[in-house]
Amino acid sequence: MGKVSLSKVWKVYDGKIVAVSDVNLEIRDGEFMVLVGPSGCGKSTTLRMIAGLEHISSGEIAIDDVVVNDIPPRNRDIAMVFQSYALYPHMSVRENLSFGLVMRKMAAEEIGRRLARAVDILGLGDLLARQPKALSGGQRQRVAMGRAIVRDPKVFLFDEPLSNLDARMRVEMRKEIIKLHRRIGTTMIYVTHDQVEAMTLGDRICVMESGVIRQIGTPGEVFDNPENAFVAGFIGTPPMNLLEGGLDRSGGGGVFRDGDLAATLPPAMAGMLPPAGVERVFLGLRPKSFVFRKKAPADALRDVWTVMPEVAEMLGEESLVHVRAGRRRFVISVDPHDLPEMDRPLEICPLMNRAHIFDSRSGRNLSRGLVLPGRHSMRRI
Ligand SMILES: Nc1ncnc2c1ncn2[C@@H]1O[C@H](COP(=O)(O)OP(=O)(O)OP(=O)(O)O)[C@@H](O)[C@H]1O
Ligand SMILES: [Mg+2]
Repeated sequence: MGKVSLSKVWKVYDGKIVAVSDVNLEIRDGEFMVLVGPSGCGKSTTLRMIAGLEHISSGEIAIDDVVVNDIPPRNRDIAMVFQSYALYPHMSVRENLSFGLVMRKMAAEEIGRRLARAVDILGLGDLLARQPKALSGGQRQRVAMGRAIVRDPKVFLFDEPLSNLDARMRVEMRKEIIKLHRRIGTTMIYVTHDQVEAMTLGDRICVMESGVIRQIGTPGEVFDNPENAFVAGFIGTPPMNLLEGGLDRSGGGGVFRDGDLAATLPPAMAGMLPPAGVERVFLGLRPKSFVFRKKAPADALRDVWTVMPEVAEMLGEESLVHVRAGRRRFVISVDPHDLPEMDRPLEICPLMNRAHIFDSRSGRNLSRGLVLPGRHSMRRI
């Protein structure tokens, strides 16, 4: 078993720096949970509190329903892998893997058995006699993971373990970690600031900002139904465009307006909004939620925006075009074979079935959970 619960957990450094505030998080046995958020949002602090490397200012952390607040790290039955692999430079791979177990006075036979399993899982067989300096970054990272695996812990904790690797190796290691989790099925809690890594690895992801949890959900849930503007603007590559403007409720429906830009909310979306009290909103539209006017379906032609394409980024299957509309700038995704001319006015239509409306004051998603044709743009096979 390896269930981890955080209940009303706070961390305040030096009596004034609030690093983590009121975190409530339940990680199921065998789950892969990713903590993601921008630098300084409290991810490492949260992980280190679970590990016992950091004292909790208040609240409770339990592993398998046993409160561990006062249990020292080595007795929590967890293993941690850091960004810096922290291998012993003068020891061979074999010695690095077995050292912790030897220190715990484990029987030689059991050490041999655990080593063999880790070596098999991670494919380290040919490297056992080498010292860390004779290994590539990816190989070192595998040894660091092997050292965690031989512990056979209830829970694995990872703190940005791939950030020292180049882009290709990161993708490789992501696959390895997914396979590792599938094979051993142990609870994993993984910290990263990289939302792509979070989306690809997590059974669920926990999005944090300034020490606060902004949303917990599956990758699909946080992408399709962000609870607030922060999550919408953080998850997705590139993230959702958030355009601030007024909400015109005259005539019973709802029309977003910002200068020349107007966007008509579908009736079902307008119907979800509170009848009064929301005047300023963010209109959230992902880059794929626009079409050229010339290709727009009939219902999208209600709102035509004239924008100025400024820069195009070719990404292979799509091109991201940075456009300006008045003083607003945002990004649309287009077919690279249909690239508009730069610095020439272009007419596009927002696909409002896919839009999200956020209260500009609280950031709350007022259209959350709405299902309309074509709303969820994440492709599923
Ligand atoms: N020992 C400390 N003393 C005082 N403040 C600290 C200490 N450790 C962390 N902090 C502060 O707590 C906040 C959270 O830090 P934390 O290391 O958890 O962030 P993080 O989300 O892991 O960021 P990163 O992605 O940069 O690693 C930050 O504002 C940081 O400056
Ligand atoms: Mg950190």
